[in-house]
Amino acid sequence: MAVAGSGSKAGHENWSSRTAFILAAVGSAVGLGNMWRFPAEAGENGGGAFVLFYIFCVLLIGLPVLLAEVLIGRHGQANAPESVRRVARDSNAGEGWSILASLGVFAAFLILSFYCVVGGWVVYYIGIFANDLVQTGLTGGAFAGRPAEDIEGLLPGLFGNAGLMIGLNLGFLAVTMFFVSRGISSGIEWVAVYLMPLFFVLFLGITIYGAFTGNFSDAVSYLFTFDFEKLTGEVMLAAVGQAFFSLSLGVAGMMTYGAYANRDTNLGKTSGIIAGADTGVAILAGLAIFPIVFAAGLSASAGPGLMFASLPVAFQAMPFGSMIGLLFFVMIFFAALTSSVSLLEAPTAYVFEKFNMPRMVATLIVGAGAAVLGVLSSLSFNDMAEFYPLGFIPLFAETNFFDTLDGVTAKLFMPIGAILTCIFVGWIADARLIDDENGLDGILHQTWRALVRFVCPVVLAVIMAFGLFS
Ligand code: PFF
Repeated sequence: MAVAGSGSKAGHENWSSRTAFILAAVGSAVGLGNMWRFPAEAGENGGGAFVLFYIFCVLLIGLPVLLAEVLIGRHGQANAPESVRRVARDSNAGEGWSILASLGVFAAFLILSFYCVVGGWVVYYIGIFANDLVQTGLTGGAFAGRPAEDIEGLLPGLFGNAGLMIGLNLGFLAVTMFFVSRGISSGIEWVAVYLMPLFFVLFLGITIYGAFTGNFSDAVSYLFTFDFEKLTGEVMLAAVGQAFFSLSLGVAGMMTYGAYANRDTNLGKTSGIIAGADTGVAILAGLAIFPIVFAAGLSASAGPGLMFASLPVAFQAMPFGSMIGLLFFVMIFFAALTSSVSLLEAPTAYVFEKFNMPRMVATLIVGAGAAVLGVLSSLSFNDMAEFYPLGFIPLFAETNFFDTLDGVTAKLFMPIGAILTCIFVGWIADARLIDDENGLDGILHQTWRALVRFVCPVVLAVIMAFGLFS
C-alpha cells in the first residue's frame, strides 16, 4: 500500500498502482447506468441511431470532460472543492471556483441516495433467483410453471412493500458505507480490484451465452443499424444525458478519484481507457440483453422495466435459467457497488478533510443523510407516490421524490458542473499547469483543448436549454 505517492500531500492516501486507479475509475463508471439504463434508453430511443450518437457524445464531450476532472483532482491531491481551490490558487485565480466542485459533491450525495434504492432492487432479485435455484435445481429454467404475469409482477410487488423496499435500500447503503469507511487501500481499492475482474468474467460469460442461445443477429442489427430518420432532438438529448451519467461526470466523483492518482500516471491515456471500457461494457450489455429479449419475443422498448421485469421472464425459457439469472444479478450488484462507493466517497472525503474528523465518522454522517433521503425515495413507489416535492415547477410537475432527485441531478447539477469545469480548465486555470498534468502531446493536446474551451461548454449549454425548456 502506498500511503503517499510522489507529489502527494502528507497523510493523503494514493492508489497502490495505476491499474488500481483504472479499476476503481472503471468501477465508478460501469454500473447501473450501463446495465440497466443504457439498454433501456437505446430500446426506447430507436436502437442504432441512439447508439451511434451516444458514441459520438462520449468522444466529443464525455472524454474531454473526464480528463478535465481527473486532472483537477490529481493536481489538488485533496477532496474535490479543495482540489479546485488549489488549482485556482496555483493559477492566481479566485478560489470561489471551488463552488463548481461543492455543487458536484452535493449532487453525488443526492445521486447516492436514490442509486442505493435501485441497488436494493438488485439485491431483491438476487434473493429471488437464489431461492428459485434451490427450488428448481441447477438445470431447470427459472420460475418453473409460473405464468409470465407473475414474474413481471415481481417488481411492482416489491414496490408495494414499503418496509422491504426500505430495508433493501438501507442494506445496500450499509454495504457501501462499510467499504468507504475503510479508506482507499483496504476498502475502495479492494472492492475495485476484486469485484471488477469478477464482474468482467461474469459479463463476458453471460454475453457469450446470450450470443449462443439468444437471437444475436437481430440484436446486432437492432443496435448497429443507423437510421438517420430516427435521430431526433429528443434522441440526441437522451444520448448525451446517458453519456454523462454513465461516465460519472459533473458530480465530483472523478475529481475525487483523480486526487488519489500518482504523478507518474498518464491521465490522458488513463481517461481514454476508462471511457473505452465504460462504452464497451454499455454496448456489450446491449448485446447481452437484447438477444435474450428478442429470443423471448419481448419488446425492446420496455423502458426501465427492461432489465428488472422483462429479463426474468426470458430466463424462464432458458436452460440453466435460475443459475444464469442469479449470476446476472450478482454481476449487476458488483457493478452497482463499485459505483455507489464512488458516489459516497466524494462527499465523505470532503467532510472528513474539511472538518478534520475520522473517515469513519464522516462516512456515518454522510450515510445517515443518504439514508433519510433514501427512505423518502423508497416511499415514492408506495406510500408517498403522490408527494411531488417540486411540483410547483412545471418541469417537475407530478414528479415523485425519487424522480425529482434523478431529474434535478441529471438536468441541472451534472450539466452545470461540467460546463463550469470546462470554463475553469479551459479559460481560467494556468495553461502551463494544465499542459503539465494532462499527459497529451501534439494534435491530441490541441484537440482536447479546443473541445474543452469551445465545443463542450457550448454543446452542453444548448443541450441543457433543450432539456429544461423543451
Ligand atoms: N456511472 C455510474 C453508472 O453508470 O451507473 C453512476 C454514477 C457513479 C454517476 C458515480 C455519478 C458518479 F459520480
